[in-house]
Amino acid sequence: MAEELAAEARKKLYLETVGCQMNMLDSEIVAAKLRSEGYELTDDVEAADAVFYNTCSVRQHAEDKIYSALGRVRKLKSRNPDLAVGVLGCMAQKDQAEILKRAPHVDLVVGPGQLDRVPELLAAVKSGGGKAMAVSKARRDGTLESIAQSFTVYDPDREPSLRPTPFQAYIRVMMGCDKFCTYCVVPSVRGPEQSRSPEAILTEAQMLVDQGVREITLLGQTVNSYEKKGQDGRTWRLSDVLNAVQGTPGIDRVRFVTNFPNDMTDDLLQAVRDFPGISRSIHVPAQSGCDVILKRMKRMYSVAQYDEMLARTRETIPGVAISSDFIVGFCGEDEASFERTMRLVERARFKNSFIFKYSTRQGTKADSLYPDDVPEDEKKRRNNALLALQTRISLEDNEQLVGRRFDVLVEGPSRSTTRREGWGGQEQLMGRTLCDRIMVFEGDERWVGRFVPVRVEAVSAVTLFGRVENPVEPA
Ligand code: SAH
Ligand code: SF4
Ligand code: F3S
Repeated sequence: MAEELAAEARKKLYLETVGCQMNMLDSEIVAAKLRSEGYELTDDVEAADAVFYNTCSVRQHAEDKIYSALGRVRKLKSRNPDLAVGVLGCMAQKDQAEILKRAPHVDLVVGPGQLDRVPELLAAVKSGGGKAMAVSKARRDGTLESIAQSFTVYDPDREPSLRPTPFQAYIRVMMGCDKFCTYCVVPSVRGPEQSRSPEAILTEAQMLVDQGVREITLLGQTVNSYEKKGQDGRTWRLSDVLNAVQGTPGIDRVRFVTNFPNDMTDDLLQAVRDFPGISRSIHVPAQSGCDVILKRMKRMYSVAQYDEMLARTRETIPGVAISSDFIVGFCGEDEASFERTMRLVERARFKNSFIFKYSTRQGTKADSLYPDDVPEDEKKRRNNALLALQTRISLEDNEQLVGRRFDVLVEGPSRSTTRREGWGGQEQLMGRTLCDRIMVFEGDERWVGRFVPVRVEAVSAVTLFGRVENPVEPA
């Protein structure tokens, strides 16, 4: 009875997350902090006592989505004035007071560097303290002050229910970014690059293993730039961290995203080659296949250097799958520049590419230096053309995999689940290979969280369809 009352008394938090994996991880941290303050998560925005959006500013579209969600929440707030509405994350840092102007019903604006203060700020709002804002200060040159959040100590406090699955989790190995690509808002919302101590990372890995996690993804905006002195006096690089994490008993797989092309060093490639638990999938965005554009983007490599890095990666790691990001319609990208990007995609044979239309971001170098001179329709056309090319290549390369056998970590039912009659309920499951390809196959839902050997029978551009080898006994 007492327990029932306690459950009744728990306040409800609706938390929606957009943006990159870093934001997903931040949301786990915020939710855990608020759980210890008596909040539990709800999927029902109408039932919530607090509605929070953990936001992204990387493209205009991501911001527009949040402003329309805030518009919808305004009605809820007018019905329930006690509802606390919060904007967290990158947009909070970037737009600050502007959010309160455009959406005056917002109560909290909290940047990515201040998320550990959310409980305190929410309590102040709830007790009638007016609006609360906490963001990092910008220096005179526009760069952010070092984000001083106690991220080494507050990360371990996390909400497992927000993970992709109970056996997959993220660990932040670095925060911020120092690269300052001219189109990108990330350095000015996430602050300077700071690598976390190897001891903190390994302690967190152990904590996750104790919670049942088997696959860890190490996160950083340029994760392969990681460098930090350990208590052993050695300088640890990403290869050292990967080695140590994959060697943690209980961890079966380690992934890492995102890589910067210039920092793809041989020690990292050799670690991926030599340690069986490290994912053989490398995401290393090229952004463009044209030297003039790369220079304007301040990516600090040429197309030839990117090609050389790809060749070295493939030579070192047999069977590696490489994926990329591209921006089409960047300032000054003419037809010839775009054709060079098409040619890069043609010869690089990426597993997949994420393709984005350039979105001008206030406060970035590109915004102040170059006109956004590619019309929207043309951006769309280039986006579609590049995507069609990548899709053809993904399909051709997947076709080469028919007949091959992969160990698949079973993540759960596939999205188009079709239940079949039979023992234990055979159904469509999905999982991923070590080279990060999605595999769909028939199996028993009790396999979720386990590795099963699957042979590929058919493919699409994004999915392998297979059959489990030597039928696995249900656990
Ligand atoms: N740190 C990662 C990527 C962060 S943002 C890296 O450097 O690889 C994810 C992707 O969004 C980028 O790789 C880029 O392709 C895209 N992006 C970033 N800023 C953008 C902008 N202003 N317009 C369109 N796409 C953008
Ligand atoms: Fe942005 Fe470039 Fe840093 Fe990636 S490396 S987060 S694209 S500035
Ligand atoms: Fe977006 Fe911030 Fe990530 S701007 S991509 S959520 S670091």
